[in-house]
Amino acid sequence: MLIKYQNLTIRNAGIEDASLLCKWWSDGKIMAHAGFPDGIKTSEEVIAQSLLKDTDEVHRRLILMVDEVAIGEMNVRNMGDHTAEIGIKICDFSRHNQGLGKKFLSMLIQFLFEEMGYKRIILDTNVKNLAAQRVYGSLGFTNLGVRENAWEDQRGELQSSIDYQLIPEDFISFCR
Ligand SMILES: CC(C)(COP(=O)(O)OP(=O)(O)OC[C@H]1O[C@@H](n2cnc3c(N)ncnc32)[C@H](O)[C@@H]1OP(=O)(O)O)[C@@H](O)C(=O)NCCC(=O)NCCS
Repeated sequence: MLIKYQNLTIRNAGIEDASLLCKWWSDGKIMAHAGFPDGIKTSEEVIAQSLLKDTDEVHRRLILMVDEVAIGEMNVRNMGDHTAEIGIKICDFSRHNQGLGKKFLSMLIQFLFEEMGYKRIILDTNVKNLAAQRVYGSLGFTNLGVRENAWEDQRGELQSSIDYQLIPEDFISFCR
């Protein structure tokens, strides 16, 4: 997958990205939103092996570039029935709140709907993640409801999630 808009690029992650992904994933500040406030203990080798198995048809990890600099990642999982589950993480905090999340998500969603034939995008976020909720609402996602105390984070603390879905008719793009 290769998607470009202005100075932004979304590209497939390759084994050459394993070291950067390992650095990001081991950082608890970056991973807290996903339930890993102490970071994920893994290795570049394990990550490289998993990247080698990626395909557009099943799962794809993607790198977000501003100009030529990697600032975060996304992923897409084919859930069947023309539905894709996506995730986003802008790992360079100095790049938050500049409209990049809305633009990168718009680029990916447009590609998934228009080029890959998906008819529904799903994702979830922590009830505490107000920035993500704001972004998903701006893009036209529908809040499907809260799952209270649905899962335990790495430290055993219960967390609640909100499920979202987006269909093409509701999509508001920030990169047209
Ligand atoms: C969520 C994330 C992708 C958003 O990306 P971003 O580039 O910061 O998003 P944008 O700049 O496009 O938009 C942020 C919006 O959230 C709003 N916002 C920021 N902090 C907020 C808060 N604490 N409460 C409410 N709204 C907030 C901003 O005002 C902005 O809305 P506006 O443009 O309507 O004013 C990014 O913050 C991120 O990667 N966070 C860490 C990982 C993560 O949480 N991923 C999502 C997991 S589901």
